[in-house]
Amino acid sequence: MCGIMGYVGARDALPVVIEGLRRLEYRGYDSSGVAVWNGREFHWEKCPGKLEVLEDRLKRRPLPGSLGVGHTRWATHGGVTEINAHPHFSCDRRITLVHNGIIENYAELRRSLRRHRFTSDTDTEVIVHLVEEHYRGDPLGAVRAAARRLHGSFAIVVAFADHPDLLVGARRNAPLVVGLDHADTFIASDIAALLPHTRKVAPLQDGQLVVARRTGNGHADVRGVDLSGRPAPLHPITVPWALEEADKHGYPHFYLKEIFEQGQSLEAELQGRLDMKRGGVVFDGLSSDVKRVRRVAITACGSAWHAGLVAKYAIEALARLPVQLELASEMRYGDTPFDRGTLLLAISQSGETADTLEAVRLARRNGARTLAITNMKGSSISREAEDVLYMRAGLEIGVAASKTYTSQVMCGLLWAIQLGRWRRTLSADHARALLREARRVPDLVRRVLDRAGAVRRVAKRLADCKDYMYIGRRFNLATAFEGALKMKELSYLHAEGYGAGEMKHGPLAIVDDRLTTVAVVPRDGVYPKMVSNIQQIRSRGGRIVAVATEGDGNARGVADEVLAVPRVDELFSPLVTVVPLQLLAYHTAVRLKRDVDKPRNLAKSVTVE
Ligand code: G6P
Repeated sequence: MCGIMGYVGARDALPVVIEGLRRLEYRGYDSSGVAVWNGREFHWEKCPGKLEVLEDRLKRRPLPGSLGVGHTRWATHGGVTEINAHPHFSCDRRITLVHNGIIENYAELRRSLRRHRFTSDTDTEVIVHLVEEHYRGDPLGAVRAAARRLHGSFAIVVAFADHPDLLVGARRNAPLVVGLDHADTFIASDIAALLPHTRKVAPLQDGQLVVARRTGNGHADVRGVDLSGRPAPLHPITVPWALEEADKHGYPHFYLKEIFEQGQSLEAELQGRLDMKRGGVVFDGLSSDVKRVRRVAITACGSAWHAGLVAKYAIEALARLPVQLELASEMRYGDTPFDRGTLLLAISQSGETADTLEAVRLARRNGARTLAITNMKGSSISREAEDVLYMRAGLEIGVAASKTYTSQVMCGLLWAIQLGRWRRTLSADHARALLREARRVPDLVRRVLDRAGAVRRVAKRLADCKDYMYIGRRFNLATAFEGALKMKELSYLHAEGYGAGEMKHGPLAIVDDRLTTVAVVPRDGVYPKMVSNIQQIRSRGGRIVAVATEGDGNARGVADEVLAVPRVDELFSPLVTVVPLQLLAYHTAVRLKRDVDKPRNLAKSVTVE
């Protein structure tokens, strides 16, 4: 959701900024722009549409210079037009700024800046005029003063004509990371944009500003301050991801590549964590406090919420604790009773989802313990939560979650097993049996992937289908929700996830031969119930696609199409059953010529409400 890239250093800024924007494309955008200091003034180019349009224009009009900012915009205030695209400029064109976030008091600020000449309809433009208003020769001071007057969320990078060797960045409730490499400094929305240049990155903290100056002695001078101007040092980390992770490796889409990486990513989740001797799971660096809980509340958004549903059932079954599962967008405005005996488990791949972050803050303010499951070191949620369990999914570029979903599920399951061990509700022997099953999962997933061709053929046979119902129960209710979400996101077709037992309370009314029901029906504790749910749909003329255990003749008898998955303990079955549904959504989307990696209207990391 909006991408920011800023560069100051010894190189030509434009290619660095454009490459950064390209790697941020996956966040979702509808227009783009760049500004570069050419030694006399800022020159810029911006336009609606894809980056290629911008690049095309830049071919005709290259912008030389070694200080630059760039932006991919996801419109919030004002239409998708050239004028509304970033960068935005002060009245005298000597200050330029790019922004991700939403300024809630922009109307009021705009009124107070009546003397300034506004050219766009954006909330962002007030920031650059506000910086201009406060600017008396001190760039950092001006950005700081402006930032203090902003309500809402922002990640900004600002460049000043008077200081062409310097960039200022600032953030609140929107991510910004600084990349460090000797004389070069990069400031971007996320690590993906920095990987071509450096793995030494410092995520900015909430309310932190950074000023990066090119010094000429081969090293950049990069400092952090807080909003009151006190030093707030940066804490660089070395990210473990290689640049190759940001490439497609011959796959036509990142999403498909990431589906096929799931054998490997799930293996990584297990690496070094399974203690077969004691029958438990080892998590690095968790405080002993997290085990002393009386109840668990789980919060998340999107696919992460579906992973939370699997975790809920697993914790209830293995650790015998009451678990409340709540969408973060609901929890943040709700009245969930929190206390020190409650553990809030927040699941977020990006660690930046605005609703999830606010739910964590609410829980902390109300005294709960907090544990985050996230893929991003240094992210806002990882910093806000008391304890963090890091996923090891690697970089995911496709907007729709695939390998990060299965990693979230696996982490939730491992956590539930260990919680059961801590609470002595799960015996060492039972835990060992579950861990042995966990070990089989990466290969079982690979086995499903080996049959990707069969899923493609099913997708082809479903070519006339425009309405989908996905049904499941217990552990695979989450799979039904996730399968439907993938179909919606990728193919733009109508798809609904539903509890199979709920069909008789309404949805059966819409069943006819134009509705396709995808039933997730592995051999598990609710199998016979699922089969009768399917029969009720079939007897009303509905078409059935069953995700069923290999060799299940029964399922073959009631379904029009079968997507076979290997047998596995029901706890781990969502990791296996979701894979054919990811592929089904993929092949449907490809057939419909959708933009698989960047579905319309969606963003990978939703940092605004
Ligand atoms: C967006 C993404 C989804 C993701 C959700 C939650 O909607 O498109 O794929 O599941 O945000 O993201 P998180 O980073 O918090 O897991």
